[in-house]
Amino acid sequence: MGPSGEIGGPATSPPLSGSAFPPIAALRKDFVWGVSTSSFQIEGASKEDGRGLSVWDSYCQSGKVANHDTGDTACDHYHRYRDDIALMRRRGVQAYRFSIAWPRVLPMGGGTPNEPGLAFYDRLIDAILAAGIEPWLCLYHWDLPQALDDLGGWTSRDCVCWFADYAAVIAARYGDRVKRFATFNEPSIFTLFGLGFGGKRATASVEALHRGIHHINLAHGAAVDILRERVAGCSIGAIHNCQPCLPAGPDDAAAATWCDAYWNAAFPDPQCLGRYPESIRVKIEPYMRAGDLARINRPVDWFGLNHYSPVFVKAAAAGSVIGFAFGDKPDNVPLTPIGAPIMPEAFKSTLLRVERSYKLPIYVLENGMGSYETPDANGAVIDNDRIAFLRDYIGAMNSAVAAGADVRGYFIWSLLDNFEWDSGYAMRFGLTYIDYKTQRRIPKASFEWYRNLIKASRGA
Ligand code: FCB
Repeated sequence: MGPSGEIGGPATSPPLSGSAFPPIAALRKDFVWGVSTSSFQIEGASKEDGRGLSVWDSYCQSGKVANHDTGDTACDHYHRYRDDIALMRRRGVQAYRFSIAWPRVLPMGGGTPNEPGLAFYDRLIDAILAAGIEPWLCLYHWDLPQALDDLGGWTSRDCVCWFADYAAVIAARYGDRVKRFATFNEPSIFTLFGLGFGGKRATASVEALHRGIHHINLAHGAAVDILRERVAGCSIGAIHNCQPCLPAGPDDAAAATWCDAYWNAAFPDPQCLGRYPESIRVKIEPYMRAGDLARINRPVDWFGLNHYSPVFVKAAAAGSVIGFAFGDKPDNVPLTPIGAPIMPEAFKSTLLRVERSYKLPIYVLENGMGSYETPDANGAVIDNDRIAFLRDYIGAMNSAVAAGADVRGYFIWSLLDNFEWDSGYAMRFGLTYIDYKTQRRIPKASFEWYRNLIKASRGA
């Protein structure tokens, strides 16, 4: 094993049948190939150097995560970030999207910043830059300080000021070195699952959901203004999870349309177009003040898109808070090892829909495949199914580009296997296998494949 924790000699993939790479000729010369992670899913060191608690620390204590897994150690990235950056550098990755743990830099959510927490991200950003990789900093990937949740979290309109103050701390500290900023990761997902279905709270509430949606949109607008004003030459966006919402059965069309408004439009529409979809506007109105839509609709530079697979929607049982639920997938669709439908054509249609709707440069900031893998007898992870998945999805992206979508970058989820929220550590999305007992890093065959794709795409 080398100093980076890699096993001797990289895993190599047996040749795939058919063409190894999708056609990439349509892509721009400056197309960016990257990888993504998030703070809670990889950092660990949950009680070190003054870090405060996040809502995910509390949720893990509730016993609801598979196998009672927690984020306490995760991938120990807090201590091994140099190894992890070396993994990217050796494979020619051009950009790295990570997130800041808000409670690490502001343990109580606001007030005096925690210097050791800020210093960790100084070290991380400096190491990313020294490796010739562009840092893409996401302010919020779901780890809200518990202290703020105790005050009402996103359901309180005060969160707009909390988030703006946090953005100001980040802009002041890192704005000299970081230029790419995302405000929120997948606001539709953490509001639907955290508030709408009541996952992270004792009870679901329509009011909490609609307040949360509106306040997060306002917080986005406030952070865009702060970053724009304080970081010279910055490039800002938000990251949305867009997937087709398809009816699971013949009677589910209305439920699918309803889901689509929450899943795909409740955030991008007000942020990029200055209006809510009508079905949501009527629900938000009680929480809206004069001038709010203008506060939300601040100019952004790009649209961050996360895409996995379509969701199949059914009408919810009577008494449901939100009016739709998730139904069965059709029998005739191939599935990934974790049961997600493999439908690259849905990726293409999503890219074209985003292009038509918002007319912004698009960066795909998450796409990838989950599995339950273990190393083979040689200690290698030969993940040909992930390679095939990536090839087909990148191929679909390229055909969307040929059809007019202005896609400027593609980031794989994820650099490392990591804490997959409610599923804990069993579910693996990484280009790098993590042996959680030893923290050994084993780059999978897909990471070598990605290296070769990047090389080929850059004409190297
Ligand atoms: C996305 C999340 C990311 C990860 C992937 C698999 O929805 O943004 O943190 O969990 O799914």
